[in-house]
Amino acid sequence: MYDLIDNRLTHLGYDSINNILNDVLSLNSKKILIITDYTLNQLGITKKIVDILDKKVEYVIFDDIKTNPNIKNVKDATYIALENKVDLIIALGGGSAIDVAKCASIIVTNEEYKNVISLDGSINPKNNPIPVIAIPTTCGTGGEVSNFFVISDDENQKKIVGVCDKIVPFISIIDPSLAATLPKNILISTMFDGLSYALESYLSTKSCPLSDMYALNSISLIYKNMDNAINEDKDALEKVYLGVHLAGIGVSLSGFGLVHILSQSLEMKYDTFHGLSNAALLPHVINRIESKKYKDVISVMGINKEGNTKEILVNEIKEKLSKYSISSKLSELGANREDIQELADLALNCLYVKNGLVKVNKDDIINILYEAM
Ligand SMILES: [Fe+2]
Repeated sequence: MYDLIDNRLTHLGYDSINNILNDVLSLNSKKILIITDYTLNQLGITKKIVDILDKKVEYVIFDDIKTNPNIKNVKDATYIALENKVDLIIALGGGSAIDVAKCASIIVTNEEYKNVISLDGSINPKNNPIPVIAIPTTCGTGGEVSNFFVISDDENQKKIVGVCDKIVPFISIIDPSLAATLPKNILISTMFDGLSYALESYLSTKSCPLSDMYALNSISLIYKNMDNAINEDKDALEKVYLGVHLAGIGVSLSGFGLVHILSQSLEMKYDTFHGLSNAALLPHVINRIESKKYKDVISVMGINKEGNTKEILVNEIKEKLSKYSISSKLSELGANREDIQELADLALNCLYVKNGLVKVNKDDIINILYEAM
């Protein structure tokens, strides 16, 4: 048996943001909390949304969110939601805004989760969370359709990973025109973030025919359209966004894997940018995982080369990273060799490793990190 995770409604395409007013009205919302980040607010993206809402519904904006969101961000967002009696959250941004929105949406209707740490693990809140409309502005999160969130517990140096089907956003609006303001290196690295999700899903021990279908289509769409998307081809960028959305559905079925787990360790230790640490780790993690499935992966990428399929894939990804000047060396992101043991311990503490979904031992992790430095 498989449980398909999806939004109730997904708009995907240029200018699909214009649907936001109809969506809000269809949910009978009286007051909205818009969760976004400071930069998007400054760039005028938030104003664009507010203008479309055209004063037909009240709103309040919260934009004080870290790149790697933490417990304080969730508490602040929840406080504003409760104080203002909001009945709908619009999450506008990358994974950070969407993850904070998912957490706040649960706590608003389920007070027993007000201690954010209690959101760790597989949770089943009694009451339905308030609905979330997710509007991703990067093309790497898949968070607009996924059933999990990741929040930093800075005090305990750990990541809270919550999994819950009730927090899948009601509606997602995926409008590639919102990516126009993103710096190129952020846009590129978030594409590798999406590609990582799809590969982690396809290689997961919990993958199933349904998640494989999403993951393979996702890999194909992201990889084949990446070059043109970066060169501002609108059709290609739309296809990359679709690919990342499919990755989000696939990874909700299968769980994520070692690239994201190690990336979380680096974020905890150095506050690295999520997309860049995923991109750097991707070839090194693949290099340590044996799988017969690489044949399918290089096939859907459109690569026609004879030889060891794993090596072909690793080299392709490294070449692509180098083409876009994205580092595959963790030391260039600020990581130190002397911290490898600590980084490995942080990774072993991840829920997915502890519950056996990702089968990896400390030696494997240490070897990957050494190679990636
Ligand atoms: Fe990610």
